[in-house]
Amino acid sequence: MTIASSSSQAGIIQRDSAWWQSAVGYQIYPASFADSNGDGIGDIPGIIAKLDHLADLGIGFIWLSPVYASPMVDNGYDISDYRAINPIFGTMADMDRLITEARARRIGIVMDLVVNHTSDQHPWFRAARADRGSPYRDYYIWRDQPPGKGTPADIEASFGGSAWSRDSKSGDWYFHLFAPQQPDLNWTNPALRAEVHAMMNWWLDKGVSGFRMDVIDLIGKQPENGIVADGPELHRYLREMHEATLAGRDAVTVGEAWSATPQNAPLYSAPDRHEVSMVFQFGHVTQFWDEKLGKWKPKPIDWPRLKSTFATWQGALHGTGWNSLFWGNHDLPRAVSRYGDEGKHRVASAKALATILHLMEGTPYIYQGEEIGMTNAGFTRIDQYRDVETLNFHRIQLAEGVDEAAFLAGARANSRDNARTPMQWSGAANAGFTQGTPWISVNANYPSLNVERDRADPDGVFQLYRRLIALRRDHAVIRHGDFRLLLPDHPALVAYQRRLGSETLLVIANMSRQAVNLPPSGISAIHGRDILTGRRVSMQPGGKFEPYETVAIWL
Ligand code: GLC
Ligand code: CA
Repeated sequence: MTIASSSSQAGIIQRDSAWWQSAVGYQIYPASFADSNGDGIGDIPGIIAKLDHLADLGIGFIWLSPVYASPMVDNGYDISDYRAINPIFGTMADMDRLITEARARRIGIVMDLVVNHTSDQHPWFRAARADRGSPYRDYYIWRDQPPGKGTPADIEASFGGSAWSRDSKSGDWYFHLFAPQQPDLNWTNPALRAEVHAMMNWWLDKGVSGFRMDVIDLIGKQPENGIVADGPELHRYLREMHEATLAGRDAVTVGEAWSATPQNAPLYSAPDRHEVSMVFQFGHVTQFWDEKLGKWKPKPIDWPRLKSTFATWQGALHGTGWNSLFWGNHDLPRAVSRYGDEGKHRVASAKALATILHLMEGTPYIYQGEEIGMTNAGFTRIDQYRDVETLNFHRIQLAEGVDEAAFLAGARANSRDNARTPMQWSGAANAGFTQGTPWISVNANYPSLNVERDRADPDGVFQLYRRLIALRRDHAVIRHGDFRLLLPDHPALVAYQRRLGSETLLVIANMSRQAVNLPPSGISAIHGRDILTGRRVSMQPGGKFEPYETVAIWL
């Protein structure tokens, strides 16, 4: 992989740049990326066939959502064997080939590490439920009675219902923060932790470049005390894991941490703490969820609030840790549909979103299809959805009296399936994703919105992403410069400055469907050549920004 280079400016001593600080990650959701054998499900050979697309984009690593053996209750986030590949995705030989072929293109493979829970079909859980005396019994969390209503252990699962289910074999109750088929592992057990470490080393020895750690902030849970996220032992487990697996290796790790705050995030990513490279934090996502109905009743995006959230995170981790930067993933709606305009201004808004995100400090992540501005699924009926969470909450919320049309409107905006429709490669049948019948419908807009078309357009979304990725590699100010938010209260303009030594970068984007004028104060005249488009920019206060127009210039 890219070799670390040290950058220091007069007066500012920077920590050495790790390769993942100049690289951009790209997430692949395998079932929906590329199908090589016509069964309607994307697979590893399909990914290998598309590596050149990713190499052209310029990414440094792929975060590969789970391809392990799994009954697929939660599309692979329920693992039954950490050292086997699910046959629907291919073989271990395919996986080895993916690692090698990616590496030949200077792309690392980052595995999804799902160790908060296993599948109920994992041999550990089968042994645990078969025999109370089994050493595997304690790999999971048991109690002999259901928790009383209102007691601390009376915890709700993320996918709805109680987090305790009764095991019909032993009659005892086991804990699961997600589906009942995803029993939580007991991290207080040192033997379990050692097994996880050995498995991680096995993958690292195979040549993977790191891990994305699924809901890692939950492993320190204490269900009996009502503690789920950010438990007292969490950081001890992460340091122990680092010591046992990552120490001395040049890997990247990103922990999914819905509970992370600007205050506690440095505890994970401060370099001297030796835990993870960065976390995925979700403040910018959950701040626009309903207090009661959550993601199923999203609020409109409020740009001043969103800008302030980004500014807070930029400030909190500058010099103390490291940020991840993302709009979307396989659990979130499509960026352009959520934060931009999926209609008339689709291309312009997708580019504006890319620009404001990628020019901040941190490691940016692109979710498959984002590089061409793919949009939400547009499903209107519940039978079009496949996601366990969406189907569960449909049942639960309707039973609680929520109107079906209201639920479907929420799902249309925020269901996880919005990001899981097949990758749109071309205008051919099924968007060129499969020769068969896709496991989930292809978005109807594929004839005009696909990789082939967008890539051919010099002003398309793909070419802009390419330039952004190259700029990050070439400019220390983008990687390490400090961040200053400008025009914090402006309802539509996102504006900030990055500065390192004598270099200053100014970024301004109009994130609305209306033209707006640069306010009389806050930013003085702008003159220069746009670093993304090469066009000359010359604007006075009062000057006009077209909808989603973006400017990025050196000052
Ligand atoms: C994470 C994954 C999500 C999964 C859940 C349980 O949030 O991103 O897809 O359902 O963990 O593993
Ligand atoms: Ca397939």
